[in-house]
Amino acid sequence: MAVATQVFDALVVGGGGAGLRASLQLAQSGLKVAVLSKVFPTRSHTVAAQGGIAAALGNVADDKWLWHMYDTIKGSDYLGDQDAIEFMCKNAAAAIYELEHFGMPFDRLENGKIFQRPFGGMTQNFGESAISRTCAVADRTGHAMLHTLYQRNIQSNTQFFVEWLALDLLRDKDGDVLGVLALEIETGEVHCIRAKATLLATGGAGRIFKASTNAFINTGDGLGMAARAGIPLQDMEFWQFHPTGVLNAGVLITEGVRGEGGYLLNSEGERFMERYAPHAKDLASRDVVSRAIATEIKAGRGVGKNKDAVYLKLDHLGEALINDKLPGIREIAKTFANVDPVKDPIPIVPTVHYMMGGIPTNLQGQVIAPDASGVQAVVNGLYAVGECACVSVHGANRLGSNSLLDLVVFGRAAGDKMVEEVKKDNSHKPLAADAFDKTLARLNRLDTQTQGESVKDVGAALRETMQTHCGVFRFPDLLQSGVVEIDKVAERAKNTVITDKSQVFNTARVDALELDNLVEVALATMHAAEARTESRGAHAREDFMQRDDEKWLTHSLYYREGHRLSYKPVRLKPQTVDSFEPKARVY
Ligand code: FUM
Repeated sequence: MAVATQVFDALVVGGGGAGLRASLQLAQSGLKVAVLSKVFPTRSHTVAAQGGIAAALGNVADDKWLWHMYDTIKGSDYLGDQDAIEFMCKNAAAAIYELEHFGMPFDRLENGKIFQRPFGGMTQNFGESAISRTCAVADRTGHAMLHTLYQRNIQSNTQFFVEWLALDLLRDKDGDVLGVLALEIETGEVHCIRAKATLLATGGAGRIFKASTNAFINTGDGLGMAARAGIPLQDMEFWQFHPTGVLNAGVLITEGVRGEGGYLLNSEGERFMERYAPHAKDLASRDVVSRAIATEIKAGRGVGKNKDAVYLKLDHLGEALINDKLPGIREIAKTFANVDPVKDPIPIVPTVHYMMGGIPTNLQGQVIAPDASGVQAVVNGLYAVGECACVSVHGANRLGSNSLLDLVVFGRAAGDKMVEEVKKDNSHKPLAADAFDKTLARLNRLDTQTQGESVKDVGAALRETMQTHCGVFRFPDLLQSGVVEIDKVAERAKNTVITDKSQVFNTARVDALELDNLVEVALATMHAAEARTESRGAHAREDFMQRDDEKWLTHSLYYREGHRLSYKPVRLKPQTVDSFEPKARVY
C-alpha cells in the first residue's frame, strides 16, 4: 500500500475543545500546525456540552479559586492530583475572560457580568453552601465554545484535515513519537503525517457502554493508539454515570436543570435526594446522585411502565425561565421523552457520560510512560489533553462543568509547551523502515479476510458486557466474569470480517478500526475495576463499600501487554497552598 507523507511542525489529533484550544496556541505562534479530525470539527462531542464551564468569578456571590479547588478535590474523592487541580482552578477565571474576548457569547446577568448558575458539588467557603460558579450560554455552552474556537483557528491559519481517522502513533527506537499514520476516510488512502509534536485530543470513549450520553464518534481512538504503542492508561476503572439521561434514549439532560431549581422525584412523589444528601440534595456530586437513583429504582420506587426511571421535575420553574435558560432541554424532552417539561416531568436514568481516566500526562500535557529502563518519564513528542487524557484533575469523580474548563486550561498549557519544544529543534528524526508495518497489516487483514464475525455483532457484545458487568454499582462476581467475558470479546474482535466490500466512504472499515480502539478501552476498564478492591467516587463495589486510603490512594496504570496493572501515588501536594487531607466525603 502506498503511503504519502506530509510534514508539519505540530499535529493535533481531534477537533474538539481541547484540540482546538491547543492548535490555536500553536498556530498563533507561527508554527505550521495540522488538526486531524474524523468529523467536521464543529461536530466534535464538545458541541454537546450543555450546562456550562466552572470558574470562581464571583459574579453572583463571593467566590475564590481555593474553594473551587477544595470542591474539585472532594468531588474527586481525593484521587485527583492536587497540583493539577490547583493549576486548573487558579487559571479558570483567565480562561473564561479569554473565551469571552475570543467572542464566546456568554449569557449575562442584569448587571452585564457573565451569568453563573449552581452545579453539583460547587460550594462557597469549603462546603458551607451551594454557589453559582458555572458560566453558561443557555444550555448550549459547548456549542458556543466550539464554534468560537473553530473560527479563531480559521483566522489563525490552522490547517484542517476533515474526516481523517488517525490509526496509530509512529514511535522510533528511543520511544519518541514522530507523528501518526492516518486514513483519509473518503478515499481510503493511508497517509503518514510527520510532526515534531503530536497531541492526542480525541475525547472520550463512552461508546464502550450500551447506554451513553456520548456521540457515536466517542470510540476512544487516542486511547487505543496509545495502548497499542505501549503507553499505559491511567485510572480507567472510573466512569461517570450522569444522573439525568433520558430514559431509553440516553440523551443528556443538563445538571443545569437542577442548578436552576429542578429536582428529582420517585414514584411516591418524594424528593428522595433529601435522604441521601441532606445538605446538597439534588446538587450533590454526580456519583452520589446516580447511586441514589439506582437505589430508588432497585427498591421499587421507580416510575414509568417498567419502574426503571425517576422523574426530573422542572415545570415549577415556569415557561419563561425554561425557554430562556433551558431551551435545548425543552426540545430534547419533547423529542426523546415525548413530554413538554413546562407541564410534565422528564423520566430520567443514570447514563454513562464521562471517562475520568485516560492517557497519563503532566501539567503541560506531556505524556508520561515508562522509558527503556522502566522509569516513568516524558514521552518525547507526545501530548494528550481533554477527556482522552488523565492529568488528573477529576480523580474518581468529576464535578459537572469542570470538563470544559479542563479542555481550555490544559489545551492552552499543552499548546504552549509544544511551541517551546518544537522551537528548540528544527529537525525531524528519521522513521524506521518498518514503522508502518503493524498498521498496514491491520488494514490488510480487514481488506482481505473473508470469514469471521461481523463488526456490529462484536461491538454489541462489547457494549452489553460493559453495561452488565461494570455499572453504577459493581459486584464481585460480575466483575470477575466481566473480565473473562471482555477478554473473549477482545479475541473475537481479532477475527471480524467486513461484509460490505463496496467500502462506500469506507464507513465499514472505520467501524472496524474504531472497534479496535473500543476493545482497548473496555479491557483497561474491566481489568482495572476488578482489581480495585475499595469504593471511591464512581467506583462503588458491593463487597468493599468503604474508601481505603491506606491501600488505594493510588492511580492505576493499565498496560495492554498481559493486561498488567501497576500503581503510582496520588500527588497530594499543591504548588502554592496547603494540601487538602482526605476526609469523609458527605454532601
Ligand atoms: O450536565 C451537564 O450539563 C454536563 C456538564 C458536564 O458534564 O460538565
